[in-house]
Amino acid sequence: MAQLLDGKKLAATMQAEMKIEVAEIKARDAKVPGLVVILVGEDAASQIYVRNKETAAAKMGIFSKIDRRPINITEKELLDLIKIYNEDERFHGILVQLPLPAHIDEEKVIMAIDPKKDVDGFHPLNIGRLFAGDPLMIPCTPYGIMKLLEAYNISIIGKNAVVIGRSNIVGKPMAHLLLQENATVTIAHSKTKNLPEIAKKADILVAAVGVGHLVTEDYVKAGAVVIDVGMNRDKNNKLIGDVDFAAVEPIADFITPVPGGVGPMTITMLLYQTIKAYNIQKS
Ligand code: GUN
Repeated sequence: MAQLLDGKKLAATMQAEMKIEVAEIKARDAKVPGLVVILVGEDAASQIYVRNKETAAAKMGIFSKIDRRPINITEKELLDLIKIYNEDERFHGILVQLPLPAHIDEEKVIMAIDPKKDVDGFHPLNIGRLFAGDPLMIPCTPYGIMKLLEAYNISIIGKNAVVIGRSNIVGKPMAHLLLQENATVTIAHSKTKNLPEIAKKADILVAAVGVGHLVTEDYVKAGAVVIDVGMNRDKNNKLIGDVDFAAVEPIADFITPVPGGVGPMTITMLLYQTIKAYNIQKS
């Protein structure tokens, strides 16, 4: 039976530490780290994500603001808004909730954010620094996974890591973070041939494809570390991961549950990086 990688518990521990750090900053500097979240439109899932970010920020004493804008905001208006927040010293982190409506070029919007305030780690400069092995802001989900591996003393050096999924938000940065820690990394994706065979070579397997219960026991080597980034809904609208937990848990050494694994780490790392952004901008 695998040991659970308890993201909920680690997130709570880190958030308690961060709360203390914010209190120390406040006592020392008479100000606190600030995060602005820009939300365009009324997308239901985005509304929930954004509210969760606000609640978590408040718990840690981080100043946060949600700037809600109508769905018909023009690209220029959004770019101008980002420019204002780039200059606003109350906010050390800027997050533009994705997806954006189709008439707005997401890349242009991300490019407009000051890389030092890019707490999502999506700006090309931050991607480039990560790929060059000198990261500044790191995409929160893969960063949270690295923290989980570290917290459970899982060694990465020389391990075979297989990342299923090649998104800019998770798969690609995940692969580079593992590479930086000296894993031998394979990125698999929807066009990969013999996926189960390749996945089965992994000592560390990260599933970030968005296909519910794709990863079964046929994909997992005995003793592997299995990380499930999936957030899918089954036909009963129940939240399920990319990994078939019941099938994989008996053969893995470590596994993340869904929910309570990777999810709570993502929001924690966002606030962690807001504090980091504060410290960078102050110095
Ligand atoms: N929408 C879903 N996940 C994310 C994320 O990590 N960052 C942003 N900005 N938008 C998202």
